[in-house]
Amino acid sequence: MTSLTIAGQEDIFRLARGYYTAKALLALWRMGLLEQAANGKELDVKAIAAEHGVEPERVRPLLDYLIVRGYLERVVPDVYRLTARGVDASPYFGYLSTMIGAYEPVFSRIEDLVTGKLVYGKDVVRSHEEMTRGLSALEDRLLGTVTDVVREAGARKVLDLGCGSARMLARLCALSGQMQGVGVDRDPNSCAVARETVQREGLEGRLTIVQGDAGDLAALPHTARVGVDLVTVMFLLHEILRQRGRDGTVELLRGIASLVGEGGRLVIVEVSGTSDHRYREDLLFVPEYELLHEYTNQRLAPRSEWEAMVSEAGMKVLQFAPVDMCQAFCMVAAVGGCA
Ligand SMILES: C[S@@+](CC[C@H](N)C(=O)[O-])C[C@H]1O[C@@H](n2cnc3c(N)ncnc32)[C@H](O)[C@@H]1O
Repeated sequence: MTSLTIAGQEDIFRLARGYYTAKALLALWRMGLLEQAANGKELDVKAIAAEHGVEPERVRPLLDYLIVRGYLERVVPDVYRLTARGVDASPYFGYLSTMIGAYEPVFSRIEDLVTGKLVYGKDVVRSHEEMTRGLSALEDRLLGTVTDVVREAGARKVLDLGCGSARMLARLCALSGQMQGVGVDRDPNSCAVARETVQREGLEGRLTIVQGDAGDLAALPHTARVGVDLVTVMFLLHEILRQRGRDGTVELLRGIASLVGEGGRLVIVEVSGTSDHRYREDLLFVPEYELLHEYTNQRLAPRSEWEAMVSEAGMKVLQFAPVDMCQAFCMVAAVGGCA
């Protein structure tokens, strides 16, 4: 019979602790409270309870639990703020959505996907909206990189494939009053979030959102394609790779090359997978990231593979711009020969 060890029990308790802590933080994130706390606002239990029409006793245990786990501290009774640990974690809160919340519908039924009782895309899908909102929070740090690249390229009309919230496009439109943007996303909820961005930023007439398949450029409205001199693809190509395979992805890249033409640019922001299993365990979030992609019709590839596909499509890699996001890279390419 297996002997009972403290270490074995601790191991499982650590997992449970991580699960409950992540769920509690995710709940506050979804309620908009973590973002408020990250911006220095104190969390007032009575005010939160009143807003939701519940008793403070319903709200308080969640915040108290996060005191125990080191993320919150009490300022005075019923008023809380982030601890130093919470503040340190705050630039990364968006991962709660992109790594956990968006994939909750998938991982709460993972055994059914493994055994074939459910099929991803038919019976269960990730939450695109939660993905989009989480990414928006994380991407603030990489928007500067993309903005610099677009400014340096002197682009006038940017097409963003898989635009999500369209926050990046809105930021590019802010570069100059002449800049035009088109965002394409096939998910209606993401398009709705993108249209919220257009309205909030007052960009009607300059920034257009098209619901459609980014993998089929020819099917996009002519007005969306005409005059485009720069295409951005942020965290979409690994989805196209599964949807259309390698050949289909290279074909899309060829289509982008002919759309932007000589002097035009392609900017890719992607997460690099790894093909080397020896290093996998040491990487910060890659094993989990790869796992969720396996069950959700996406396919990561190492950076070298993306470079190979870009050159097969007749483009030349000009630059890798630094990106402050785990395992991510930003590649700038142009149609062959034009540097
Ligand atoms: C991981 S999110 C990235 C969103 C955005 N680019 C960003 O960085 O915040 C991928 C987006 O691509 C969209 N998408 C996936 N496949 C697509 C396709 N074939 N055509 C258009 N959009 C697609 C999804 O709906 C989702 O909004």
